[in-house]
Amino acid sequence: MRLAPVDDTNRTAIAAMVLGESQAHFLASNADSLAEAEEDADARPRAVLAGDQLVGFLMYDASESESEARIYRLMIAPDEQGKGYGRAVVQAALSEIRALGHVREVSICYDPGNEAARRLYRAAGFQEKGLDEDGEMIARLVWPAAEARR
Ligand SMILES: CC(C)(COP(=O)(O)OP(=O)(O)OC[C@H]1O[C@@H](n2cnc3c(N)ncnc32)[C@H](O)[C@@H]1OP(=O)(O)O)[C@@H](O)C(=O)NCCC(=O)NCCS
Repeated sequence: MRLAPVDDTNRTAIAAMVLGESQAHFLASNADSLAEAEEDADARPRAVLAGDQLVGFLMYDASESESEARIYRLMIAPDEQGKGYGRAVVQAALSEIRALGHVREVSICYDPGNEAARRLYRAAGFQEKGLDEDGEMIARLVWPAAEARR
């Protein structure tokens, strides 16, 4: 599994990748996320590839003027779920963010009824902090200063 930039070779396929009915309400569609990324210089959209196959989509932001990064979109194609990709994507995203050098904490938000997300992020070390004003659960991972630079 690896993360790759979104470009002309994968953009259409990412936009076409959709979740099933039971999960679609958990996050914006990939098409909407890609449109959003066009307008936001801090957004870092990524294709999730297994070999050459597109299996998911990730988006985070990590503004150089802020010590906090936010992972705000993560989806694995329905047929590819339950194979460990989600867990690997979180680790790859955290490595990429840590390598930027300026980030000390990473936050994520998800629907409080999204048990898969809760378990996935908890296993990666995120701690739930409570609901935001939209009723989304905020979870946070803080790196000690020395570790953030590693
Ligand atoms: C959440 C999501 C990204 C997980 O991806 P995945 O590739 O299926 O996850 P993995 O196979 O790597 O499993 C990692 C962990 O996630 C949790 N998990 C995954 N699917 C789960 C499910 N259906 N029910 C409960 N926990 C689940 C488990 O803790 C699992 O670890 P375990 O098997 O050791 O218990 C995927 O289910 C998805 O795309 N969901 C819809 C979009 C979404 O909700 N995104 C998150 C909010 S932004």
